[in-house]
Amino acid sequence: AKEEKLKRISESIRAFPDFPTKGILFRDICPILKDPKSLAAVIDLFEEYVRQNHQDVGMIVGLDARGFLFGPLLAQRLGIGFALVRKRGKLPGPTVSVAYDLEYGKAEAEIQEDAVAPGQKVVLIDDLLATGGTLNAACELMKKQQAHVLGCLVVVEMKDLNGADKLKPHTVFSLVQY
Ligand code: PRP
Ligand code: MG
Repeated sequence: AKEEKLKRISESIRAFPDFPTKGILFRDICPILKDPKSLAAVIDLFEEYVRQNHQDVGMIVGLDARGFLFGPLLAQRLGIGFALVRKRGKLPGPTVSVAYDLEYGKAEAEIQEDAVAPGQKVVLIDDLLATGGTLNAACELMKKQQAHVLGCLVVVEMKDLNGADKLKPHTVFSLVQY
């Protein structure tokens, strides 16, 4: 059953060369959302993994923007809350932010000060791991807020870019690898 789910998910990921800039092979996860069985398979496999490996998770933290597509569904399955790490300038009230380099450009990640509680155990989620800059920035935000990162989840991991190394000692669980 697990193999079937993984097959369905990988068949729902398309590649576009030279997007958004020349030399980048863009892995597009939109067909996963178009296919309810594929989307359910993603959430099933994440749920199973978190239940087995991070039983004491208290909050799912998702990354702007495509982490928002999967995170709230997973949080609902687990019966816990969801918090947003956004790109700078989108969140009202007191926030903390961290600057980081992207595979193609620069950005700043931001979270509302009260989004996670000090000591809270969180699992981070995004659609894709490339250089690890984005998830690493989120880990730094969690550190600033004294939240404890149990692990990171991504649908797609670009192995060649060694993003998982950058995130150590935090672990990365991915469904599809290239
Ligand atoms: C993409 C992707 C990841 C990030 C991975 O997001 O969704 O969040 O890049 O790259 P990294 O591991 O090298 O940091 P992007 O910032 O392009 O935009 P979006 O999610 O808002 O569409
Ligand atoms: Mg993103």
